[in-house]
Amino acid sequence: MEVAALLVLTLSLGALVMLVALAVGRRKEEIREETEQTAEFAAEDIAVKGLASKKPKQEKQRSRKEKAPQHTLSHPLLAASLKAHSGNVTCLDFSSNGKYLASCANDRTVRIWSTKDFLDREHKCLRANVELDDATLVRFSPDSRAFITWLANGDTIRILKMIKKDDGSFNFKAASEDFPQKHKASVLNIGIAETGKFIMSASIDTSIYIWDLKGEVLASINTNQITNSYAAISPCGRFVASCGFTPDVKVWEVCFGKGGEFKEVARAFDLKGHSAGVHAFAFSNDSHRMVTVSKDGTWKLWNTDVEYKKQQDPYLLKTVPCASSEGSRVALSPDGRVVAISNGCDVAMYNAASGQQEEEVHGIHSEEITDLKFDINGRYLVCCGDKAIRVFHNAPGYRAAIGDMQGMLKKAQNEAMKERLQQQIREAQRTLDAVLAAPVD
Ligand SMILES: *[C@@H]1O[C@H](CO)[C@@H](O)[C@H](O)[C@H]1NC(C)=O
Repeated sequence: MEVAALLVLTLSLGALVMLVALAVGRRKEEIREETEQTAEFAAEDIAVKGLASKKPKQEKQRSRKEKAPQHTLSHPLLAASLKAHSGNVTCLDFSSNGKYLASCANDRTVRIWSTKDFLDREHKCLRANVELDDATLVRFSPDSRAFITWLANGDTIRILKMIKKDDGSFNFKAASEDFPQKHKASVLNIGIAETGKFIMSASIDTSIYIWDLKGEVLASINTNQITNSYAAISPCGRFVASCGFTPDVKVWEVCFGKGGEFKEVARAFDLKGHSAGVHAFAFSNDSHRMVTVSKDGTWKLWNTDVEYKKQQDPYLLKTVPCASSEGSRVALSPDGRVVAISNGCDVAMYNAASGQQEEEVHGIHSEEITDLKFDINGRYLVCCGDKAIRVFHNAPGYRAAIGDMQGMLKKAQNEAMKERLQQQIREAQRTLDAVLAAPVD
C-alpha cells in the first residue's frame, strides 16, 4: 500500500518535472538530440550485453568508453543540426538561388542540403562522391547548377556539374579534366565570381591565381602579406581581397573589357586601421560593407561603397573589442546588420550598427570552427567544425530589422507610411517570437 502510494507520488512528481522542463522551453532540437543519443546508447548497450557472457567485465567497460559520446548542444537559437558526414566538415557554401547548402568533409563526399527543410525533423541531403580524394573547399557556380571543389590530395580545382534526373534527383558529373596544379603551399580559399567570369584560388604563401572557367590562368597576384590567412571574391564579382600577417586588408579589381575579355588585375583600395594581423574578413551581399577581425582584439566594420578610381578611400564605421584567435572566421549578414565571429569552438553575434554583443554560443562543435556563413536571406547562421553542421536562427538580425523600422516609424510623416511600418514591425515580431518558441512535438 505504502509502496504504491510512493510510486504514484514519484510518477506525478516526474510528470511535473517534465512539464516544467517543457514549459521553460526546451526546444525540439534538444530533445531530438537526446533521443538520438539515447537510441545510440541503447544500441550500444544491447551490443555490449550480447557479448557480456563471453567477455570479462573490464573489457565490457572499455568497449563502452571507446565510442566517444556524440557532442551535443542545446541553445534557444539552435534551429537544426545537419548530420550525414562521417568526417569533419571543413567548408560551407549557399547557392545564390537560396535553395541549397553545400558542405564538404574529409570523408570523400560533398553533401547538398535543401535549405527549405532546415526546420523539419528530417534533413535529407544529396551525396556527391569525390573520387580518390578529399574536397576541403566547395563553392557553387552562379547558376547554382555546378560547384567547384579544392582537392586536398590532387592540389587542384575540380568542377562538378549537378545534372537533374527525370525523377527530380541529381547526378554529379566531374568535368573531364581537373585544373592544372599551381599552388606550392596549402590553399585557404577558392571562389567563383557571381558574374561567371573567373575563378580564384589563394594559398597561405601569398599567391592568388585568377583562372578562367576552363582552367587557364588569367593572372597571378602576390599579396606581399608575408603569409595569408584568408582571401575571397566580393559578392558583386568585381573584387578579390586578401588578409594575413600584415594589418592591411588588400583589395584588387579583376578587370574585363566590354567584350568580356580579361584585361588586368588592378589595385583598388586597402582597409587600413588594424594594428596587427587580420584573421579574416567578410562582405555584405552588395559588397558595400566589409567586416574584418584582427589579432589586435577588435572587429571593424567598413563602408566600401566608394569610388576608389577617384581616390576615395573606404571608411571605418565601427571598431568593437572581441575575442578571436588564429583561425577565427567572421560572417556579415547579407543586409550588413549582424556580425558573427568564431573563436575556437564559440561564436559571438553583434549588432553591426551599435556594436552591442547580442548572443554568445559556447562549445558549438567538439573541434575548432572551420567555417561560418549567413544564408542568403539572413534568416540563419550556419557553422561547422566537427561532423555536424549547426544552423542557428539569426535572432539579432530580426531584432535589428525591427529596431530600424521603429526608428523609421518615429520619423514617418504620413499615416499610410506609419500604418505600413507598424504592420511590418508586427510581422517581424511574430516571426521572431515564432522562431524563439518553436513548438515541442
Ligand atoms: C541582400 O540581402 C537583402 C536581405 O536579405 C536583400 O533584400 C537584398 O535584395 C540583397 N541584395 C543583393 C544585391 O543580393
